[in-house]
Amino acid sequence: EVTATAPAKKALSQDEIVIGAVFPMTGAIATYGQESVNGIKMALEVINKSGDLAKKIRLIVEDNKGEPVDSSNAVRKLINIDNVHAIIGSVASSNTLAGAPIAQQNKVPMLTPASTNAKVTMTGDYISRTCFTDDFQGVVMAKFAHETLKKSKALIIVDNSSDYSKGLAKVFSTEFTKLGGTLLGTTDEFTYTQKDTDFRSLLRKVKRQNPDVIFLPGYYTEVGLMLKQAKQLGMSVPFLGGDGWDSPKLQELAGPEAIKGNYISSHFSPDDQDPTVKSFVDAYTESFKQKPGAMAALGYDGMLVLADALKRAGELNHRNIRDAIAKTAGFKGVTGSITIDAARNATKSAVVLETTPAGMAFKQKVAP
Ligand code: PHE
Repeated sequence: EVTATAPAKKALSQDEIVIGAVFPMTGAIATYGQESVNGIKMALEVINKSGDLAKKIRLIVEDNKGEPVDSSNAVRKLINIDNVHAIIGSVASSNTLAGAPIAQQNKVPMLTPASTNAKVTMTGDYISRTCFTDDFQGVVMAKFAHETLKKSKALIIVDNSSDYSKGLAKVFSTEFTKLGGTLLGTTDEFTYTQKDTDFRSLLRKVKRQNPDVIFLPGYYTEVGLMLKQAKQLGMSVPFLGGDGWDSPKLQELAGPEAIKGNYISSHFSPDDQDPTVKSFVDAYTESFKQKPGAMAALGYDGMLVLADALKRAGELNHRNIRDAIAKTAGFKGVTGSITIDAARNATKSAVVLETTPAGMAFKQKVAP
């Protein structure tokens, strides 16, 4: 179904494999990009050393600064200038949603290791992911709130500049209500925007509602400040979040008091005793002098899955690479077993982690 306006494709290099990476290396969500690229580089070492691929992979990292506009520009540049074989990225769902239509239109495979919003892979058949979706993550946290913490009056604070936050809020709200809990207000009543730094009037409004649990599906920079300000206002109700809290910066931003007693869902726990996870955690910590967070593990797995597809693709063209990604089944990663389904999503376990001053502590693993 090539349309009259589709640009003619340049042949891909057969001497090397060129992979474009679109990640937030600077800006408010920079730890996502830094951890991802660390994980990807570790994976590339494994791949290039193994000799499994006949050709070397060359990685081109583009910094999207955490912004949708920079994300689409980066995808366009990687396709038009660098003639990449495939793209890995991005993290924030709104960023991936901005770049994915360009990859789809050009029929260049794009694999996101981390974007969980349901709409991401609906963009088209060249877009896939190696992580679970928010339809799962939101249910995990609603159940945790209602069944494990035994909370019944939830309030949701939403980042209205984020597709991720809005989508995850909806799923949590539906599930929490279905379980018999009460939602105070609606999902567009208590909102903020990325780059906000003063949440005190919002938090005063929230406090007056007297919730027994607060769901905050945000990213770590705003979440960290909000937790700190909530503590300063004398709030002691637990906050719950999703994978967007998973950053080595969260503890520092919230401070040792405000960080305690909150819970998130995520993709991976560095405390996992599984031998594959342990050896990844040890090698990563050795290389980067920091324990890996979820994004490090997701970046590592995403790159290994992409390399595995490249190995199986036969002649390297975009269609063959896409088809090989789609056939990924039972790939054993550090974030779990990865099978790409017909909707180009992966069904995987989630973990619930408690945020403590020392880092994220493992609470439970939830099977899909
Ligand atoms: N799931 C988040 C999103 O879609 C991104 C994210 C993944 C952030 C993993 C941190 C860790 O926006």
